[in-house]
Amino acid sequence: MSNETFYLTTPIYYVNATPHLGHAYTTILVDTMTRFQRRRLEPEHVYFLTGTDEHGDKIVQAAAQAGESPQAYTDRISGIFQETWKRLGLTPNQFIRTTSEPHKRAVQRFLQQIYDAGDIYFGEYGGQYCFGCERFYTEKELQDGRCPDHQTTPTFIKEQNYFFRMGKYQDWLIDHIHCHPDFIRPERFRNEVLSFLKDPLEDLCISRPRTRLEWGIPLPFDDQYVTYVWFDALINYISALGWPDGEAFRRFWPNAQHLIAKDILKPHAIYWPIMLKAAGLLPYRHLNVHGYWKIEEAKMSKSRGSVVRPLDLADKYGVEAFRYFVLREMTFGLDASFSEEALVARLNADLANDLGNLYSRVLKLIQRYYDGRISELPGEGGLVDPTRVAIAEVTAATERFAFSEALAAIWNLVSATNKYLVTNEPWKQDPGDVRTKAVLFSAAETLRAIAVLLWPFLPQTAERMFRGLGISEPITSIRIEEAFSSPQHLGPRQWRVGEVEPLFPRIEAATAKPVPVKTEPTAAQESVADLIAIEEFRRIDLRVAEVIEAAAIPGSKKLVKLRVRLQDEERTVVAGLKEHYPPESWEGKRIILVANLKPTKLMGIASQGMVLAAEDESGRIVLLTPEAPIASGAKVR
Ligand code: MSP
Repeated sequence: MSNETFYLTTPIYYVNATPHLGHAYTTILVDTMTRFQRRRLEPEHVYFLTGTDEHGDKIVQAAAQAGESPQAYTDRISGIFQETWKRLGLTPNQFIRTTSEPHKRAVQRFLQQIYDAGDIYFGEYGGQYCFGCERFYTEKELQDGRCPDHQTTPTFIKEQNYFFRMGKYQDWLIDHIHCHPDFIRPERFRNEVLSFLKDPLEDLCISRPRTRLEWGIPLPFDDQYVTYVWFDALINYISALGWPDGEAFRRFWPNAQHLIAKDILKPHAIYWPIMLKAAGLLPYRHLNVHGYWKIEEAKMSKSRGSVVRPLDLADKYGVEAFRYFVLREMTFGLDASFSEEALVARLNADLANDLGNLYSRVLKLIQRYYDGRISELPGEGGLVDPTRVAIAEVTAATERFAFSEALAAIWNLVSATNKYLVTNEPWKQDPGDVRTKAVLFSAAETLRAIAVLLWPFLPQTAERMFRGLGISEPITSIRIEEAFSSPQHLGPRQWRVGEVEPLFPRIEAATAKPVPVKTEPTAAQESVADLIAIEEFRRIDLRVAEVIEAAAIPGSKKLVKLRVRLQDEERTVVAGLKEHYPPESWEGKRIILVANLKPTKLMGIASQGMVLAAEDESGRIVLLTPEAPIASGAKVR
């Protein structure tokens, strides 16, 4: 077994705000990636770190506003972050707080080390300071004299402070980025950093006088100063591992990766590697950078009131539907727009329809045909290739954080399985037939593979699928490459399908409220064999048609001959509706026509389509017509 380790961190979030979609997104990505790595490596060789950033002006101000002491305030908000991650089912190995004693000790040790090495000096600096960002801005960085982030006018401050000789390491950093092309990824952020490094790097002011700010970690070599919040915060990535002597640091640091959004690229891509270099430590392996969630094209902002709360969405639609949406919707490295409608559409189409229906359909057939038992039996080879392809694609895409692509690859397998069933129609076959069994077992085996692949992304759903299939083996004991372990596509050992519960309830799009899951099966659900897949439905070309004229057919009591228009095309259709709709009632009506029915001859007249009508139990028949005016030829979906 390999000794390879994997260490991935989220940024530590400021406690001046409670968790929103952006924080949840980064943390979900790290949760997904570390779950995936735990199925690839030894689970204890994988480490997921998150936490809260609790020092600095911002926090003092937020605490004052809340009427609390900084400590009481940070305890409370940090607690909300921890509780939120728990409720979202996220599983960090550690939640670090920068106000914890071990972290403070590590920061002081780090500072002392580079101070002793001569990389920190005392000097005077005057400049434009933004309290929101807690940093000085150069004139060039300001936009119309304002902070580009907060749009506020900075304050000119002149004071004596400690400075870190960043400039000294600029050439080393440029070299390192050139020699390690995937040090910062995706590439556009690497290019951004390289272009920033074209100008000389200024030294970094790493202290704040205590007279101005008390809420920070005192400098070990001058207790009249506290540490600049970024210098304090970045060190969390090693203090959490017990640097300098911790066993975890020795094991995990050589394989460290960070995940951040583009807003904090500079401290992570420039300050942090240089800090590590100055302290004689290895740089991290990769900095992975994702884009920003926007709401209707605007940046999410508390002041505008446009903040999406992850728990509200999880409560409304379910944790996993929310998780699926954010993982599927954002292309890694690019910005994405959040909308609740898009979430509902994905939930209905991908989760309730494609995956949910496949799962229920296969399980219900196995239950009906074989009393739920799946015993050892050779399968049928039709799904072997699509499964292999999915495993390879999911693995490759996940490794490079392309989670949207990975999910698309899983859904290709879901579609292939749906198609396979439509082609083989086990519901029309004899249950005792060996081939029928083989087809259903193949589908069940593929559902098992789908669940294994899905687990890092939607762990609860995958576990429910395992339970539904009656697989007793814990899903977490199966490695990704074993998702499909039986080369001959051998049927699984002894599974017993339990009660089939829908995986996801459909949501009514108009109201965006969950439709209660029916406990009583409807007639259609009862007879699983009568259900069709969406692909089957899509083969039927239903169109709106306009009746131009209608005539009786001599010698026929029931038939009426219609001339109809579909956009630019005219057709003749014979309908058996004369007793309910006499010829004179048809002209000008808009009807629904099955437009791709094979032409047939009725009373010697070729009929090119079929008119749809509904019939109730008393035999009353009414024509189906569009609810509002719509062009002839319009497609019915
Ligand atoms: N405390 C610093 C980070 C220190 S790390 C050593 C900080 N905190 S933060 O609370 O502002 O978090 C910023 C991070 O939150 C982003 O990098 C990203 O991970 C996440 N997001 C916050 N808003 C976001 C969006 N609108 N969209 C996507 N993610 C964003 O910066």
